[in-house]
Amino acid sequence: MIKKEVKKRRPFQLVKGMRDILPEEQRYWDFTRQLVDRLARAYGFERIDTPVLEFADLFVRAVGQATDIVEKEMYSFTDQGDDNLALRPEGTAAVARAYVEHGMLNLPQPVKLYYFEPMFRRDKPQAGRYRQHWQFGFEVIGEPDAVLDAQLILIASKIYQAINLPVNIQINSIGCPGCRPDFENELKDYLKKQKSKLSELSQARLLKNPMRILDSKEKEDQEIIAEAPQQLDFLCEECRNHFTQVLEYLDELGVTYSLNPTIVRGLDYYTKTTFEIWAGAEETGSPRGETGSPRLVEAGRQSALGGGGRYDDLLELLGGNPTPGSGFACGVERFITQIKETDAKVPDQAKAEIFLAQLGPEARKKAIVLFEELQQAGFKVAENFSKSGLKPQLEMANKLGVKFTIILGQKEIIDDTIMIRDMENGIQEVVDYHKAVAEIRKRLEKSVVNDQ
Ligand code: HAM
Repeated sequence: MIKKEVKKRRPFQLVKGMRDILPEEQRYWDFTRQLVDRLARAYGFERIDTPVLEFADLFVRAVGQATDIVEKEMYSFTDQGDDNLALRPEGTAAVARAYVEHGMLNLPQPVKLYYFEPMFRRDKPQAGRYRQHWQFGFEVIGEPDAVLDAQLILIASKIYQAINLPVNIQINSIGCPGCRPDFENELKDYLKKQKSKLSELSQARLLKNPMRILDSKEKEDQEIIAEAPQQLDFLCEECRNHFTQVLEYLDELGVTYSLNPTIVRGLDYYTKTTFEIWAGAEETGSPRGETGSPRLVEAGRQSALGGGGRYDDLLELLGGNPTPGSGFACGVERFITQIKETDAKVPDQAKAEIFLAQLGPEARKKAIVLFEELQQAGFKVAENFSKSGLKPQLEMANKLGVKFTIILGQKEIIDDTIMIRDMENGIQEVVDYHKAVAEIRKRLEKSVVNDQ
């Protein structure tokens, strides 16, 4: 037969900024999901999943037209039905939409919701910054009280405590539409005077969204930002009282934080409290200290672990009744990077405990039945039924790091027995086939005790 020559095609690759989550990574994801689920339940949050696609206008209105997310990063397109849709770039607007759409106002307030979902932003890909990234987020809707902001910040800190990671809460208040314009005017006047010294990016922002200059990452802006007027000096009485209460509750809860007037966040829906979670312990000492150390500021600003704040006007903006809200979200990939750098114990739930090896066709027949029995008994069993030699099977068992290998060979079939090999010391014991489950359980329990 003449073989037709097929030209080898170039293999497909990932879309830029996207990531595969490979099997060896899954245990970190399982661990994170379980940790988030556990904390959410402990604080009375219920899970919500919103679709990946929403009307693009939802984010334009909620996040704001003059933001990086909407202006540069949102994946939006017109579908075959002429609807202008967007891949969800963030979770809060979608949760707020769901709250209004499903009449959650009629539920006992506040409504506490959490999510664990992928977000899409056509950002410049770099370490810790992806075009599809995941966030876990917590939102409390229907309650204006400062105690909720403090409790949300506590939950955020506890998530990082669970992996022994010291974090620093950078907190600010950006006031309300009543008191912000005065500050914005003052800020604009100040920045205009410094215009020629500002980075190109900040010069462009000066007209559209001057507040965002405060969280500029550009080196040349830092000195100007440090001297800029601060929103805290312009807060109205209500906003000032609210912020004082948030800080008092945090003090009461023993959560340390740094006041950071540059935490204005990159989304327009915030009012009053805004905060970010940065990796690293606070070095300035005092819990009511000024902005953290320059090193911390530099590192944190580049890659906040999480961020959030209050959004008391968002629901009305989306067509709902006036309903206050507050929340935060953290990047899952950034969380997992931190887990790997701490000594947090992340169990490998998929890891097999025993390997079932078989030699010859008769043994294989018996082994596939025994495999089912072991599975039903709750053991994590591995096998490679396509191999028949002992060597490759033991090699695989070794590679998987199982504690015991069960061997079923010709002799065991005749004697109605199994052989149990302790993979740590190589000692092999023959036991009755019908006692296999009980014998394995006994040995595994003993090895767990020895490991402790
Ligand atoms: P955000 O600060 O835009 O806030 O995103 C939250 C977190 O998601 C960030 O702190 C970061 O850890 C992670 N993140 C953001 N963009 C990327 C990216 N391109 N690659 C990897 N990780 C990323 C929000 O989205 C708000 N919805 C948070 C919120 C909830 N505010 C109130 N409730």
